[in-house]
Amino acid sequence: MSETETGAGTAAVKAGSAGDEKPLLKVEGLVKHFPIKKGLLQRQVGAVKAVDGIDFEVRRGETLGVVGESGCGKSTMGRLITRLLEPSGGRIEFDGTDITHLNTSGMRPLRRDVQMIFQDPYGSLNPRHTIGSIVSAPFRLQGVEPEGGVKKEVQRLLELVGLSPEHFNRYPHEFSGGQRQRIGIARALALKPRMVVADEPVSALDVSIQAQVVNLMDDLQDELGLTYVIIAHDLSVVRHVSDRIAVMYLGKIVELAERDALYASPMHPYTKALLSAVPIPDPKRRTAKSERILLRGDVPSPIAPPSGCRFHTRCWKATEVCRTTEPPLAELRPGQRVACHHPEDFEDQQPQDTVLLSVAKEAAELVPDEVSREPAAAEETAEETTEETAEAPEEAAVKSSTEPSEESSTDESK
Ligand SMILES: Nc1ncnc2c1ncn2[C@@H]1O[C@H](COP(=O)(O)OP(=O)(O)OP(=O)(O)O)[C@@H](O)[C@H]1O
Ligand code: SF4
Ligand SMILES: [Mg+2]
Repeated sequence: MSETETGAGTAAVKAGSAGDEKPLLKVEGLVKHFPIKKGLLQRQVGAVKAVDGIDFEVRRGETLGVVGESGCGKSTMGRLITRLLEPSGGRIEFDGTDITHLNTSGMRPLRRDVQMIFQDPYGSLNPRHTIGSIVSAPFRLQGVEPEGGVKKEVQRLLELVGLSPEHFNRYPHEFSGGQRQRIGIARALALKPRMVVADEPVSALDVSIQAQVVNLMDDLQDELGLTYVIIAHDLSVVRHVSDRIAVMYLGKIVELAERDALYASPMHPYTKALLSAVPIPDPKRRTAKSERILLRGDVPSPIAPPSGCRFHTRCWKATEVCRTTEPPLAELRPGQRVACHHPEDFEDQQPQDTVLLSVAKEAAELVPDEVSREPAAAEETAEETTEETAEAPEEAAVKSSTEPSEESSTDESK
């Protein structure tokens, strides 16, 4: 996203992401439908299919990045795996234990192991409480007395996240956005969790502060052996800190791959479109793919997602089979799972079906890179273009309009 991300580039290598170990988190067929109710009797007339059957695992010690347009279900997924929301279907296993439908008392031990960091460092801290009270809340809620006492432990946590122990008696409004997010991180780490789910942890922060917070999270991961799921809009954040990346579209994972494989050779057309908004750092790819893909149209409603492949209404490769048959998320290359009938740079999964849907012909505009690239950027030599500078928000290429449905209501969000 910017040069300020430079420091975050060191975050590339993570310990303990070996593939053969049992994953820390395993998710199978996870579903969350928010019921839409109407009338006096509150009859259910439909559902927002926020998460609609996703499978993935999170390996011990790794960072899994999750990206996708607004409304595709990222936050819902995060709240499901931290069990802040009750799943409508599927299975969640944490460290070998089925936690899909654990009740409050059953969840108690898990509450210590899994923590969430939220996007809004203003909204998530109670303005009437002191920092000491906020960061020590998890101890009170869990009835835990840390060694050396609560105050000492909170001061240690404040130091750990780069704040002064003197801040104990101050209030949130006395801090900047970045400092508040550090407070949120200190609170999340209080109970020594094993997994932290961070929902857009830096997107509310000033660009110049984002890299600092990302670097802090990265250092804490190494120091404390944390496992992260980081949800982001911003490809640059995910790129620098992730070991693997899952791309979501309308409640589904459409591609899941090792970070480098995903950036070097995306196989799902949607991933390719998201990435085509990012200037290409690799000189080989830069010459090979000389166009940007501007997706046309809006994200369809998750109340009535398109049949077959959900992306077919915006995909420039869509054929009849895409309209009728949902492509499974299949491992097409080692470690790279893709849900597409006609993947990029790969053997066609449906070679008999070659006639493009009419919508496909209009779905995307392929803009020659020479035209769309900034003149200054076009003059850059390959050597000058580093990963750290080559970032742009994915929203640049992909318009989104999925807003929460006004009609929808649920009694399940907590
Ligand atoms: N409590 C709820 N009740 C009804 N619908 C909901 C609820 N929470 C989320 N949704 C809907 O579910 C869909 C997915 O929302 P979600 O917040 O998970 O998306 P997101 O990918 O996190 O989006 P963003 O990038 O904007 O944060 C959206 O259509 C949203 O309106
Ligand atoms: S080619 Fe077909 S299956 Fe693949 S993303 Fe496009 S519409 Fe979906
Ligand atoms: Mg969200």
